[in-house]
Amino acid sequence: MRPLRAPLASGRSEGFCQADRRARMSAVSSLFERLGGDVALQAAVASFYEKVMGDPSLEPFFANVSMDIQIKKMIGFMRMAMGGPHDYTGRDLRTAHRRLVAQGLGEAHFDAIVDILEATFREMEIEEDLIAQAIELVASTHGDVLCLEQA
Ligand code: HEM
Repeated sequence: MRPLRAPLASGRSEGFCQADRRARMSAVSSLFERLGGDVALQAAVASFYEKVMGDPSLEPFFANVSMDIQIKKMIGFMRMAMGGPHDYTGRDLRTAHRRLVAQGLGEAHFDAIVDILEATFREMEIEEDLIAQAIELVASTHGDVLCLEQA
């Protein structure tokens, strides 16, 4: 896990703009299929949020959030991010998480979420190099999710 954070360290100071991220995403356009498509993604996202809601440091952020809707939005986002057919109708990540950052969302929460997602993929016995690609993609949202200043 830790080595995967290395590119992120430089990304943190630079911040990824939307165009950068789109370019990175298109470079792994078949990741969605290689991960197992919708069946795998739906199972992964459901299991991921079950773990998130079991973590007392993360669960309070989801108070008053409809988890059915959240799961659908996350599946749509992941499809889009991983180059699959997508119908993402959610907000951009900076807008969606601004309220949470004001409530104290920070680095430790972000790392915990990424670790839970990684553990979920590993439980599903997804190939390690695909996990690495998926996690790198998710980790690249760091600046937006935590609403860091853009360079
Ligand atoms: C690691 C990268 C992350 C990604 C890719 C991600 C993705 C998303 C997406 C796609 C949405 C839906 C946007 C919308 O509501 O329109 C969302 C909302 C949300 N996320 Fe994240 N998220 C991430 C990290 C986190 C973290 C670390 C937390 C808190 C522990 C969190 C908590 C939430 C909550 C509570 C909402 C619902 C906000 C609301 O409805 O007001 N997310 N996220």
